Amino acid sequence: MNTIIVGLQWGDEGKGKVVDYLTETADVVIRGQGGNNAGHTVIANGTKYVLHLLPSGILWDNKINVIGNGVVVDPVGLVQEIQRVEGQGVSITPDKLLISDRAHIVLPIHKELDAAREAALGDQKIGTTKRGIGPAYADKINRCGLRMADLLDRQFAEARITRRVEEANEILAKFDLTIFKAEDVIAEVYAAFERLRPHISNTIATLHTSWKDGKTLLFEGAQGTLLDIDFGTFPFVTSSNTTAGGSCTGSGLPPTAIDGVIGVCKAYTTRVGSGPFPTGDEGLSEYLHGLGREFGATTGRPRGCGWLDTVLLRFACMVNGVTGLAVTNVDGLDAYETLQICTSYDIDGVIHDLPPADRSAWDRAVPVYESLPGWQSDTTACTSYDQLPEQAKAYLNRLAELCGAPIAFVGVGPDRAQTLVV
Ligand code: IMP
Repeated sequence: MNTIIVGLQWGDEGKGKVVDYLTETADVVIRGQGGNNAGHTVIANGTKYVLHLLPSGILWDNKINVIGNGVVVDPVGLVQEIQRVEGQGVSITPDKLLISDRAHIVLPIHKELDAAREAALGDQKIGTTKRGIGPAYADKINRCGLRMADLLDRQFAEARITRRVEEANEILAKFDLTIFKAEDVIAEVYAAFERLRPHISNTIATLHTSWKDGKTLLFEGAQGTLLDIDFGTFPFVTSSNTTAGGSCTGSGLPPTAIDGVIGVCKAYTTRVGSGPFPTGDEGLSEYLHGLGREFGATTGRPRGCGWLDTVLLRFACMVNGVTGLAVTNVDGLDAYETLQICTSYDIDGVIHDLPPADRSAWDRAVPVYESLPGWQSDTTACTSYDQLPEQAKAYLNRLAELCGAPIAFVGVGPDRAQTLVV
């Protein structure tokens, strides 16, 4: 059974925990898109790990973890992450972590260009993670980016980096941002590359061998459907295909290799960065922040919080072909008396059950809500779906009905043991 795990909202759905849980039965865990803009918090055996580029399967022994061709890799950031996780007692060897030779590289200039672009946008800024993701993908699409395999040819790589640094400096100078010296960038990138070199290989060939050998493959999506470059709330999106198809193009495994798609969503909605958020609710945000919840794993930013939006979820289930839902953070709603579920949007008096493409329509979308009674009891100690309060089950059943997909997992806390299988 080869499974893709995708986020159904704006990222931060708790995918890392679901991936980590499913990794138990997987042989290979694969990242196919995004970069270190992702932040997955996994709590295993009482220890908290924050992963950005490393697939969550790294926390297990005897699992292969692949950073696929569709990922943009910041070599310096990845080496720092490897050292941090190794410092927590996890060994990261070349047989455990494979990096695609086709993966594009995030250079220090990309991070600065990300900042420059945001500054130029002023109050229209995207609110990026400033990890250089957009500029690195832009170089890929513009066919002037550098791939891992290119670093093997030092003469070529040095010439390409030098040219890109010169081009970037012209833009950066206009914004009074850091001007780079090509030789410093080359030295920094190659220092990191030496640590990564043994991990770089033709991961497409390895993945096809694993598939043909009947190994269990798990694709770990980053960000969420509404941040997808095609399906998200454009332009307030990330620069990759975060939806199920991205796992195929980002790994070299075809759609015929996939058996199921698990869509992960919170029992409510959150988003960081700018852009539309029809069900955003200040009261719920304050309440969840007061519980110490909903601060970003990558940037520490407080996330905006809102009611469950099944317009988004319905669309996300469609474009991803979700075969099972994993609903996380159910315990976040434990104390609430009355819960709201958004079932459609009213846009200029017309009811829509799918999200609009037009950005001005997003701003006029008024959520249509249905109220459900809360369960007002602690779910964190529940160890099976049956033990959940009746109102919680009714809430989850209504969610599944409105999205048109069955519930497969329910999360009632951060620990691996707090994932209930339905
Ligand atoms: P970028 O991916 O850094 O270019 O940021 C683009 C948008 O995606 C911003 O709104 C970010 O906050 C958002 N974003 C990127 N990665 C994540 C993530 O892992 N979780 C939530 N939001 C993200």
